[in-house]
Amino acid sequence: MKDFLSLHDCSKEQIEDMLKLAIKLKAELKSGIPHPILKGKTLGMIFTKSSTRTRVSFEVGMTQLGGYPLFLSSADIQLGRGETIYDTANVLSRYLDGIMIRTYAHSDVEDLAKYSTIPIINGLTDLLHPCQVLADLQTTYEHKGKLEGLKMAYLGDGNNMAHSLLYGCAKVGMDISVATPEGYMCNEEVVENAKADAKKSGSNVIITNDPAEAIKNADVVYTDTWVSMGQESEKEERLKIFTPYQVNKELFSKAKSDAIFMHCLPAYRGFEVTEDVIDGKNSVIFDEAENRLHAQKAIMATFMA
Ligand code: CP
Ligand code: NVA
Repeated sequence: MKDFLSLHDCSKEQIEDMLKLAIKLKAELKSGIPHPILKGKTLGMIFTKSSTRTRVSFEVGMTQLGGYPLFLSSADIQLGRGETIYDTANVLSRYLDGIMIRTYAHSDVEDLAKYSTIPIINGLTDLLHPCQVLADLQTTYEHKGKLEGLKMAYLGDGNNMAHSLLYGCAKVGMDISVATPEGYMCNEEVVENAKADAKKSGSNVIITNDPAEAIKNADVVYTDTWVSMGQESEKEERLKIFTPYQVNKELFSKAKSDAIFMHCLPAYRGFEVTEDVIDGKNSVIFDEAENRLHAQKAIMATFMA
């Protein structure tokens, strides 16, 4: 496999191998052991949307692997002025050793992968956010000591995070229940793919509109913003519709007593989650954010070495 676009394309073993590598690289970093696996290589990082975590963790991660990260804002490169993905892919393949891209349409990333001769890493599209979920699986493993047999509950918008969590959990054998309002449910094809993967790994995928049902007995409770990048004009309407899905103390108490709370960030306290939960003792949000660095180093080392 040349590219890292979706966890659905990875085998269970590939995901487990990347998780093991991420944990090893994290331990090495903490002990001061250098790992220049990508010495002399350059990663182009194309951003059409804002980012704090993805940009910084990829830049720092590439540097720690001995390589060079090149930030390419779409506002500055010709792609943003209408140069085709075909030409961009062909030209950048002559300079770079890999590209991480964050943009809107998932099909643009697929096209970039199709026309490039170098590995393409999906740093978020409207459909998927696989780098985040690899870091989330690492975080869950570190806190729970296992993945198989756990239950994840995702409450809120049926968005890129929900989709990638469906794919990630189904591959590694975690049960996942997703509760979204009617009209904001997950992409049907993603749900079908996840159900097929879950069958193979022996886990369950539950799709519901009932947040209390989804969160019951969960080991991991996950939410994300109700207004993703590009949906700013729908904000007012969304805030009203999503209110019953807010992860507050009362709803969170229906999960297991030792459940961890996760959020990819950026978070909007008082909307999708209340302060007492996101800043409470069960929250692992900053471990997740840190693990973006380690998980993405594992992705780059796997696809670019
Ligand atoms: N979680 C995440 O991808 O954060 P950024 O948008 O800051 O990169
Ligand atoms: N669903 C959010 C995730 C941000 C990391 C968005 O797409 O804006």
